[in-house]
Amino acid sequence: MFSVLVLNGPNLNLLGTRQPEVYGATTLAMIEESCRTHGRAIGLDVTCEQSNHEGALIDLLHRARGHHHGVVLNAGAYTHSSIALMDAISSIALPVVEVHLSNIHARETFRHKSFIAPVALGQICGFGAQGYILALDALKAHLESGPAE
Ligand code: DQA
Repeated sequence: MFSVLVLNGPNLNLLGTRQPEVYGATTLAMIEESCRTHGRAIGLDVTCEQSNHEGALIDLLHRARGHHHGVVLNAGAYTHSSIALMDAISSIALPVVEVHLSNIHARETFRHKSFIAPVALGQICGFGAQGYILALDALKAHLESGPAE
């Protein structure tokens, strides 16, 4: 069975009350539960983590190597600023699917730039909480297409 880390970054702990007109009414706890449930249904062992701190996110990515086969990452605003997160992803040699609830390309121009995208397997954005489910499906298909570790 493949093991996947679902990692959420800054301010995503406030989902449900944070700008619901942009991010919806679903809480992070609900998203994490649906990821675990969907994971079980498709044969993925899903672990969920969240941090508001760039260094903590980097530590969690480093720790993912050796513990997980892939990562679903919503890096929040660090997506648009963090070369350190980009380097961490490049360093761990794990497939990472980038997720955003909102369509970052339809928002302010500073959100169009992603430092994660060039080192990610792919990017899913604009589908709300469903994006995490799509990401798990995509990651599973990718992992099954290559040799399991
Ligand atoms: C976000 C988009 C980012 O631009 C923003 O900073 C977030 C959430 C999303 O899920 O749509 O915190 O990653």
